[in-house]
Amino acid sequence: MSVFQATTSAPVNIACIKYWGKRDNTLILPTNSSLSITLSQDHLRSTTTARADPTFTETTLWLNGKVEDIKSGGRLERCLAQLKKMRRERIEAKDPNTPKLSEWNLHVASFNNFPTAAGLASSASGFAALTSSIAALYGLSSFDPSKPSVSSPSELSLVARLGSGSACRSLFGGFVAWEVGSSPTGEDSLAVQVAPQEHWPTMHALICVVNDAKKGTSSTSGMQRTVETSALLQHRIKNVVPARMQAIEKAIKDKDFDSFARITMADSNQFHAVALDTAPPIFYLNDVSRSIIAVVEELNRVSYEKTGHLVAAYTFDAGPNAVVYTESRNVKQIIEIIVRYFPQVESSPFPDPFNLFSGSQPA
Ligand code: PMV
Repeated sequence: MSVFQATTSAPVNIACIKYWGKRDNTLILPTNSSLSITLSQDHLRSTTTARADPTFTETTLWLNGKVEDIKSGGRLERCLAQLKKMRRERIEAKDPNTPKLSEWNLHVASFNNFPTAAGLASSASGFAALTSSIAALYGLSSFDPSKPSVSSPSELSLVARLGSGSACRSLFGGFVAWEVGSSPTGEDSLAVQVAPQEHWPTMHALICVVNDAKKGTSSTSGMQRTVETSALLQHRIKNVVPARMQAIEKAIKDKDFDSFARITMADSNQFHAVALDTAPPIFYLNDVSRSIIAVVEELNRVSYEKTGHLVAAYTFDAGPNAVVYTESRNVKQIIEIIVRYFPQVESSPFPDPFNLFSGSQPA
């Protein structure tokens, strides 16, 4: 008897140009384009196994071993419905002898190897791994480059986006843009690879876990409040992000770390300014986060005076944890300085405090 099962894993991605704000809450269409780097080492990943079987009486999802509620009309259900539709139209309709997996219930088990919902982009890797595992189970994608695939990573990014916006970017390795799109139905709001990791292999991301507790204001409710109340967000969407997207893509193409760092830090700071401009205000950074900003700014000031170049770029998502981007030649110096100023106070869930970046395709 055949077993219909697939396991894939996807890494988190960390945005340099932040997505913050939806123009459509159901389809998860953003108010601006965004750009991120997908991490590739093993510390921050979701691994998902999906199995279809005609004897399953219902579809069940386990997240880190606990059964999750599948809300009717919710994000997960929308992702599953879209994948089933693709299976029906692209595979089952073309071959009457193929098993009708789209009609069977699923068992899906997903594990994060890092704290969930702590501002470490767990929903991004989670929905990317879920989408890619079911796509593999349904025969929609082939991770074997020698075999043709019936759906591209950009098409699958449309499905992952229905689960969590930032998840669409984790379908690619390397440097990835999520295009805002203009269609009200969302088919042009997808992820594209700007450059593979091999283009700029000396780029590293140091993940500084300031606090791994669950975050206070979820990105969904935070974004909605910002869209409803912040005038600064409207300025950001119209006058800032479009030019920044072009500038950072150029910086990546040119491997121009100084421009990359300036844009990344400015965009993180504007995102947190927009959070503060929300009513009531949202505070994601804490005193340790602000001290990390001060240390990196000072390092860059001294380095710029000496060499005319910057050495590091900080960025913060919806939580206090810092990601510091730097190039290989500066990794040792940055780690030494951060560990000197921020010694580890208690045992960490990570084997070491830093996760070195080298992007890769989810596999
Ligand atoms: O996809 P969500 O709902 O987890 O939102 C992610 C928002 C940020 O991480 C703050 C920014 C981004 O672009 O990843």
